[in-house]
Amino acid sequence: MRQQVLVFRELPSDQLARLQAAHEVTVANPRKPEQLPAFRAALATADALIGSSYPVDEALLASAPRLKVISSVSVGVDNYALPALAARGIMLCHTPGVLDETVADTVFALLMATSRRVVELSNLVREGRWTKNIGEELFGFDVHGKTLGLLGFGRIGQAIARRAALGFGMPVLYHARRPVDLAAQAPELQGRAIHTPMNDLLARADIVVAMLPLSSSTRGMINAEVFAAMKPGAIFINGGRGATVQEDALLHALDHGSLRAAGLDVFATEPLPSDSPLRTHPKVTPLPHIGSATFETRHAMAELATSNLLQALAGERPAAVFASTT
Ligand code: DGY
Repeated sequence: MRQQVLVFRELPSDQLARLQAAHEVTVANPRKPEQLPAFRAALATADALIGSSYPVDEALLASAPRLKVISSVSVGVDNYALPALAARGIMLCHTPGVLDETVADTVFALLMATSRRVVELSNLVREGRWTKNIGEELFGFDVHGKTLGLLGFGRIGQAIARRAALGFGMPVLYHARRPVDLAAQAPELQGRAIHTPMNDLLARADIVVAMLPLSSSTRGMINAEVFAAMKPGAIFINGGRGATVQEDALLHALDHGSLRAAGLDVFATEPLPSDSPLRTHPKVTPLPHIGSATFETRHAMAELATSNLLQALAGERPAAVFASTT
């Protein structure tokens, strides 16, 4: 039976066509003020939502009385009111797996950029300030052979660890709730990635990478104490979720502590407000949340999310269900 699907962030045309072949589809992006009325109207009759990067909170859910399934074009699910979804029995699907290598590439790009001061030194050339050989005031720090500390060791964390351990000869320490069974999940990292208590990791890592999902237990978890426990001269990278970091504490560590630099793809508020000191801080390399933003990977995410939605509406078990009461 054809059902009502509301697409709340544009999909590639081939994936939109798959939805349109099977269901009645409304495309309305609530971030665009001119499309907000159509979005609100379509919510009232929507059986399914597909999209990303928009808060689906209790108030929004209350105006979607027929909703059965949400397919998020993201792996992170922090935009969704999970208890309200569970209470209503609404299925939530997401896109794990297809973006791991791409996000790991982005994190590694940030790690290289911060350590070797790539953006700052490129700007020196672009702005005509390269007038003599650079001196040591502009030298960077080696990445190869340095100790990497990973906070969070899911699929993306493991993809970062592979790059670090196998490509750059870096000892890898990771902190997760429990040790990962590397023999089963990532045999190539056996003996190369070591489960380590948080404070030990912070004291030993030259580069600390946060790859934490946002939940009530991780919100604000990277605080002043965490920055103070980092090895003097450490570099901090965040490729997970911005709100896991207390940004005031990060700024304090950069300005008054011994943190060398930070590479940030994610922020507590996105897009980053223009008055945020993190936007222009000389020790910060900021990116506009581009973790998965390549042509190939964004298409793969849209394809998986579309398949999830079609399967759910057909009464089948989708490939990637995050949570459901069904
Ligand atoms: C996700 O899918 O949650 C990522 O943050 C997108 O880059």
